[in-house]
Amino acid sequence: MNCGKCKTKAAISLPRHNAAFCKGCFTTFVHEQVARAIKSFAMFKPDDRILVAVSGGKDSLALWHILLKLGYRADALYVNLGIGSYSEESHRKVQHYAETVAAAHGATLLVHVVEQEAGAGIRELANILHRPTCSTCGTIKRYQFNRAAVARLLGNVLHWQEEYLDKQSPTLPASVEGFAKKVKPLCRLSEREIAAYAVVNRIDYIVEECPMAKGSKMLLYKEVLNRLETESPGTKQRFYWGFLDKQTKPESAPETMAEKDQRTLTPCLSCGQPTTADTCSYCKMMAKAKNTPAQPRS
Ligand code: FES
Ligand code: ZN
Repeated sequence: MNCGKCKTKAAISLPRHNAAFCKGCFTTFVHEQVARAIKSFAMFKPDDRILVAVSGGKDSLALWHILLKLGYRADALYVNLGIGSYSEESHRKVQHYAETVAAAHGATLLVHVVEQEAGAGIRELANILHRPTCSTCGTIKRYQFNRAAVARLLGNVLHWQEEYLDKQSPTLPASVEGFAKKVKPLCRLSEREIAAYAVVNRIDYIVEECPMAKGSKMLLYKEVLNRLETESPGTKQRFYWGFLDKQTKPESAPETMAEKDQRTLTPCLSCGQPTTADTCSYCKMMAKAKNTPAQPRS
C-alpha cells in the first residue's frame, strides 16, 4: 500500500480515515489534526503560554512534542507520586525527553515530588486518608497543575484524566481568576494513532499503566472501547463526538457538573485556589494527612 499523500511506501494505515501514510506524511497528518482541534475549539492562541501535564505516558509526551513542533511555547509539569519503580521509570522518561528534545525548543520541565510536600508517597497518603489512591492522586495532580500554571501565569493546563465525564469536553474554560483553562488538543486522534506517532517520532514513553489503576473501571472501559474499535474502526471517535454533541445542549437543559462548579467557585480560605467549598480539597487533605487543621491565609 502506498502513502495517500506522497505515494511512497506507506508505513501506517488508518482504517477509520480510509487512508494510509508514510512516516513523514503521518506526522504531518497528526500535526494537522491537533492544529484543527486547537482552532475549532478555540483552545489557545499562537502566543499563549501553555503548561502540559506530563505523566511519562504516550499521550502526554506526544502532546508536548506536537505542541513544540507546532511552535507553541509549552512547558511541562511532572508529578512524582512516589510509586516505587513505576514513578522512577516514568520520571526518567520525562526527564530524558525534556533534556534531549524539549530543551532545544527552549521549553522547561517542572517537577513536583509528592513525598517532599506531603511527607509520604501517594499510597501511604491514601492509606492515612482512607481514600482510594486514584482519587487522592487526582486531587494532588489537579491542584499542582493549577498552582504551577497560575504561578507561571500560564493560560492553559493540559491534562488527561478528569474525574467526571462531564468534564471531558475538549475545552474547559477558565472560570474565576486563578483557575487555569484546561484543553485536550489530542481529541481528534485515536489511541493507536497517538502510539504510532510516538513510535515514528522516537518518543520514549512508559508503556506500563500506573499499578494503582490496575483493575480500575477506567481501564476496563478503555479495553472495551479498544476492542470495539478493532472490530469496527471509528467507533471510539463516533462515541466521543456523539458525547460532545450532547454537551451542546439547549438553555433549558440541566446544568452539567462542570458548569455547576464554575458557577460556585470561590478562593480557598487556606491557599487561594478556586474551590466550591470554604477550603479546597487539597488543603483539607494535606491538613488531615499532617493531622493539623487547614491554616487560613495570612
Ligand atoms: Fe494516579 Fe496512578 S496515576 S494513582
Ligand atoms: Zn486550598
